[in-house]
Amino acid sequence: MRVLTIIPTYNELESLPVTLGRLRAAVPDADVLVVDDNSPDGTGELADRRAAEDSNVHVLHRKSKEGLGAAYIAGFRWGLAAGYDVLVEMDADGSHQPEQLPSLLEAVRNGADLAMGSRWVPGGKVVNWPFIRKAISRVGSTYSRIMLGLKIKDVTGGYRAFRRETLEALNLAEVESVGYGFQVDLAWRTAKLGLNIVEVPITFVERELGDSKMSGNIVVEAMVNVTKWGLTARWKKLTGKTA
Ligand code: GDD
Ligand code: MN
Repeated sequence: MRVLTIIPTYNELESLPVTLGRLRAAVPDADVLVVDDNSPDGTGELADRRAAEDSNVHVLHRKSKEGLGAAYIAGFRWGLAAGYDVLVEMDADGSHQPEQLPSLLEAVRNGADLAMGSRWVPGGKVVNWPFIRKAISRVGSTYSRIMLGLKIKDVTGGYRAFRRETLEALNLAEVESVGYGFQVDLAWRTAKLGLNIVEVPITFVERELGDSKMSGNIVVEAMVNVTKWGLTARWKKLTGKTA
């Protein structure tokens, strides 16, 4: 299995070297693609230096900050074109522990079309998250599950391993979410295709360095989209039109 771990970055100068080091040590066979949105703090240049020293590390530079979803889609396209079998999503800030990647890859090896790192299944944990973030994640996940009829417990989680065939089936050009709602969007699309989604317990550790890019707008976009998708699906069911 050729594995590509995609790490989107915006101002992660302090965190990225730590995460890259841990990832290269934990899963030396996996290649890495840093997708940087022209970070003003020089994260892109740092990634270039790492790529020059280590042939397993690659960098995709984008012109401006266009959101997590857009960065991942660009990364997926790059990885699919390069022929990788498994494409992984991982945050740069250490919240997604590289040492837990083998358990996600194991789930894919055992037949998952999408393996999702999950904080809200037995064995899953969150370390150092303020009450408000836990509440947003729990409420957001529960709301999405009810609205979209999903069985997944951690719908917004961003530590994932996709089999390439899953991404090829998803029609990435249609994905409209810009912010973290992108995670819900992809989970929902994968579930609608009837593909095999497996949740793997992870311990999510809040970042120690740098700042979160989470914002009120990101939460609102996710909520609005989930509501729209849920209502549209119900309407189609009622009127007998298929999706
Ligand atoms: N290229 C790029 N462009 N990267 C971005 C952008 C962007 O516009 N916005 C965020 N990132 C990168 C950050 O640099 C980091 O590597 C990763 O995306 C996650 O950003 P954080 O700001 O650390 O996210 P978080 O910890 O608040 O949110 C985490 O939890 C959310 C809720 O479960 C992430 O795992 C999200 O994916 C998840 O939805
Ligand atoms: Mn984070």
